[in-house]
Amino acid sequence: MTQDDMKKAAAHAALEFVPREGVIGVGTGSTANYFIDELASLKGRLEGAVASSVATAERLKRHGIPVLDLNDAGTLAVYVDGADEATAQRALIKGGGGALTREKIVAAASRTFVCIADEGKLVDVLGRFPLPVEVIPMARSLVAREIVTLGGEPVWRQGVKTDNGNIILDVHGLKILDPWALEERLNQITGVVTNGLFARRGADILLLGTPSGVRRL
Ligand code: 5RP
Repeated sequence: MTQDDMKKAAAHAALEFVPREGVIGVGTGSTANYFIDELASLKGRLEGAVASSVATAERLKRHGIPVLDLNDAGTLAVYVDGADEATAQRALIKGGGGALTREKIVAAASRTFVCIADEGKLVDVLGRFPLPVEVIPMARSLVAREIVTLGGEPVWRQGVKTDNGNIILDVHGLKILDPWALEERLNQITGVVTNGLFARRGADILLLGTPSGVRRL
């Protein structure tokens, strides 16, 4: 079974969490894209979806699923999105696709966060995947120096501008033993918009595609 097959299986399993009616939140990335394709079969029963990126909004619209502004949608029943790394405690690294800030906002606005991924994303300790940090462009060097003092090695994701007009620093070399504390610490650096640790608001349900079926944590 390929990694893509495992992503598709997890995406399919997430359909179980789609409510009978109302608005849901939808994430960004290849696994989330598989979920959007699956969601098309249920579109008649949904009022619409809130997208965590411009790319996701476009894909939803291509399937005929109405895209709503979060400000008009209120609290969402469920948010479905992928991850770059996940622990068994359901803390995540996200933002490989650069959509971390909007993903964090939609996750915060949702009662239940269902994270979908292939089993290769499950780790004991977060940090092998470089941690994305979204930064206001003029603060790039300032934030990078601060991150070095915390023991990280920030690398500017060249040529990438987020949907919010900001830049991304990918932080290498971290062994994140306390994701909750690091998430808070990074957010306190002036110029940081948000970071890709989802620990304070982690996933409520983790669906992992494996060669022997979908594992639920
Ligand atoms: C985008 C994300 C994605 O969820 C994450 O990068 C996983 O992507 P994929 O499903 O393609 O493996 O956080 O910002």
